[in-house]
Amino acid sequence: MKLPYYISWTKQKDAASFEIASVDGVTITTTDGLRLIDMTSISYQAHFGHNHPTIIKHIKEQLDTIPMSSPKGIYPHKNETTYKLLQYMKKEDGKIFYTTGGAESVENALKMARDFTKKKIVLARSNSYHGATLGALSATGDWRNPAHMTPEGWVVRIPEPNEKEALKKTREIILQTGAENIAAIIIETITGGNGVYSGTKEWWQGLKKLCVEFNILLIMDEVVCGFERTGLSFGYMHYDVEPDLICLAKGITGGMIPFGAVWTSKKIADYYEDNILCCGLTNYAHPLGMAAMRGVLEIVHDKKFQENLKHVENIFKIELEKLKSLSIVKEIRVHGLLCAIDLKKTIDGKKFFQKGIYLVSQTNRIILVPPLVITESLLTEGMGKVYEVLEENL
Ligand SMILES: Cc1ncc(COP(=O)(O)O)c(C=O)c1O
Repeated sequence: MKLPYYISWTKQKDAASFEIASVDGVTITTTDGLRLIDMTSISYQAHFGHNHPTIIKHIKEQLDTIPMSSPKGIYPHKNETTYKLLQYMKKEDGKIFYTTGGAESVENALKMARDFTKKKIVLARSNSYHGATLGALSATGDWRNPAHMTPEGWVVRIPEPNEKEALKKTREIILQTGAENIAAIIIETITGGNGVYSGTKEWWQGLKKLCVEFNILLIMDEVVCGFERTGLSFGYMHYDVEPDLICLAKGITGGMIPFGAVWTSKKIADYYEDNILCCGLTNYAHPLGMAAMRGVLEIVHDKKFQENLKHVENIFKIELEKLKSLSIVKEIRVHGLLCAIDLKKTIDGKKFFQKGIYLVSQTNRIILVPPLVITESLLTEGMGKVYEVLEENL
């Protein structure tokens, strides 16, 4: 079908799309009547399903009261909701800069890090995605970076955490580049689309030590990992390290409104008391995004939500164990409801789709990221279908 708009990250003539008739919780029904179980939270953002009533209620109330605002306007609940976010992050001493999505969060974190340190270079992993704007894409190391010829010299790559002597080599790279030139290291706490890889606690703590030794800021990209995705409220909570900046988006509104945030430490917040914050967006702290986030903060504190989440995280592990018995499965990496399954061959995503499963299919890999509100019965049904497709393609 020829469309009057672009489909992202693909040749337009090959672009796969489908027509949606309706959504209900974690299922999508196409206009052909196919019921799909969403096993990927759309693009890793539908943490709370596709139409969570609590988020919708808050957005509707906002639309009926103060639907838009100046970035400077303090509308009811703006302060209270922000304090709630800080409390939930266990980072009350810092401060929030609001954005309209993940790339904008990364972009503003990079700008603040460069401004605060008066240094320019950023260190980042090769196996990474940080967003599609020029700064975020420069930090990105996957295929999308060279495709856009991002400016040379902005970013220097460090070894992957699982490489031999990764920290020693990172130290050497810092010395070669010159610590006096390096503003920050930006790392996805756990990679999403690039295969659910993370460093060990020792690696993270070693990395933080290098940051302290060389006066380099640590930016943690939590765009995928935030808001209960990986078994804890935030990814950084697994590793006991103190980031200087944290990038948030996606789950912050469960994908219901484009929104994001950057958390900065107190020392950065203090700096901007007397220095101009040269960052801004027309839709800064947009009331509809804030209202959706308010809904999210209500949901994540709900006892029933938490009980179901812990339950389905366990069911997920049990279902993944069953997949391990299939000869096509090479390796499974899982944190909470974020999982990559490496396969011995590529399976066309259409095969899962035709069975009623919506997931990310890559070369020799599938990624499963079910919404956090999925029920046991839908999860086992979905995982059963994934099993069937894998078994049919051994
Ligand atoms: C880790 C990470 N950071 C940043 C982004 C960019 O977010 P957005 O697409 O909302 O700009 C993404 C998007 O997938 C992501 O996975």
